[in-house]
Amino acid sequence: MNSSPWWKEATIYQIYPRSFFDSNGDGEGDLPGVTSKLDYVKSLGVDAIWLSPFFTSPNKDGGYDVANPRDVDPRFGNLEDARELITQAHMRDLRVIADIVPNHFSDQHEWFQAALKAKRSSKERERFHFYDANEDGTPPNNWISLFGGPSWTQVEDGQFYLHLFDSSQPDLNWENPEVNADFEKTLRFWIDLGVDGFRIDVAHGLIKEDVLTNHPDPQGLSNALRLDVAMDSEVRNALLLTVPYFDRQGVHEVYRKWRKLFDSYGEREIMAVAEAWVHPPVNATRYVRADELHQVFNFDLLTAEFDANVLFDVVERSISLNATVNALPTWALSNHDSPRVASRIGDEQARALALFVFGLPGSTYVFAGQELGLPDGQLQDSDRQDPTFFRTNGAIKGRDGARVPLPWGGDTIPFGFSTGKPWLPISQSWKDLTVESELADPKSSLHLYKNALELRKEFLVGAGGITWLESPQHGDKNDSLLSYSRGSITVVMNLSDSAQECEADGKLVMVSSGTVDARDGIKVIPARSTAWFLS
Ligand code: GLC
Ligand code: CA
Repeated sequence: MNSSPWWKEATIYQIYPRSFFDSNGDGEGDLPGVTSKLDYVKSLGVDAIWLSPFFTSPNKDGGYDVANPRDVDPRFGNLEDARELITQAHMRDLRVIADIVPNHFSDQHEWFQAALKAKRSSKERERFHFYDANEDGTPPNNWISLFGGPSWTQVEDGQFYLHLFDSSQPDLNWENPEVNADFEKTLRFWIDLGVDGFRIDVAHGLIKEDVLTNHPDPQGLSNALRLDVAMDSEVRNALLLTVPYFDRQGVHEVYRKWRKLFDSYGEREIMAVAEAWVHPPVNATRYVRADELHQVFNFDLLTAEFDANVLFDVVERSISLNATVNALPTWALSNHDSPRVASRIGDEQARALALFVFGLPGSTYVFAGQELGLPDGQLQDSDRQDPTFFRTNGAIKGRDGARVPLPWGGDTIPFGFSTGKPWLPISQSWKDLTVESELADPKSSLHLYKNALELRKEFLVGAGGITWLESPQHGDKNDSLLSYSRGSITVVMNLSDSAQECEADGKLVMVSSGTVDARDGIKVIPARSTAWFLS
């Protein structure tokens, strides 16, 4: 291929280790489980895996509450297992991205334990955000945690500490140089162990300003910041412009330093992708300036309706904004924080959107199970583990639905995931969605993903920009079709509920559902379906 860095237009497969494959029968996925399934991962045609956190953690927030960032939690295995996973991935030419959590530690981290024992204004407390109570005893401000409830928890001597997420996740004070020094140590630790890159959790959150200022609608803001809470997009966007604790300019200084560290590994082409959901969208491009990070997630497709106007805007904006800093966009339809795309917009629509997105320039992220077309798991309240569910007294159900373990094969639950009881229940209705049964069905979502990723690699990676053929502003300018050409491929998505004619050139190579009729140069695209043509 060409000499551009490996991550530039990579397809990256997100693995939530606890839900992937359980190697020892305790009901929870683990690192040896991931290693044992790398041939499957490779067969999908992806370039890299991103592993959600597997570090030492009391697991109050699915491992995003890290008690020791330089070790593996026993539920997932040990450091030797991590090393083996990386070695085995590299043997298959798969890169490995670790998920680093710099905004907060777990309250079980030794620093926080020391801070609890230490006095006000001590060096131990200065690593976090400890403040005195207001005169009337209330917390220093009115912010609501992203998981619900106050952002502050009081300790024995009356001070409060800040936690934008669960009370078990105290925010770190990035004005304190010790914090950056410790993270650089962590980055080097994992790079030296062999990882090829990092996903940076809450990358926009590290620097806090105006910590003592109240927000006019803290509850609305907390809801707006959650991908699993549905909200009118205008209301959401208006609220998102007012976040007082994200996207402060100081975060960019951190990433400039980190970029130097990554670049010091030269040919290893260490990359980093920021989880930075910031507003207005132009702000996201700052994270991918030439001397900062390599990629920033685009969250728009996690909430966008299946609608031509909305999707056209998202794609146009993302490509053009990234171009201003000479970066390529990223695309993701699902992740461990949002409802699964098949549940959110429908099965056929999810397949159509995947094919539409796989043709676009940039990197594409696939959340494990998405290739099977999995819906959200059906859970009882008694199954739930997400702190959001508890912190909102059940008002917000949380993210467990997207985290139900993967069905691998066989006819009965838990479909080969574990020989024990899975940590979240899998329902019998997933029988036809197992890897085994989809491999046997040429029309399955799994085959569609494999074919698409193969064609993408062959014809699209490095093929440059897109030319719109049909959109609300191109071609017939109606809302039924979105179509673009890129390299030798023409992609046509029919968003409507009836078949639509189009004039795409080339021979049909793939369709997400239904069959394409071609007569006299006119092609008829089935309802809620995307087709690829090769010329
Ligand atoms: C990120 C993670 C999410 C986690 C939160 C707090 O948004 O993706 O799962 O709960 O950060 O670490
Ligand atoms: Ca296990």
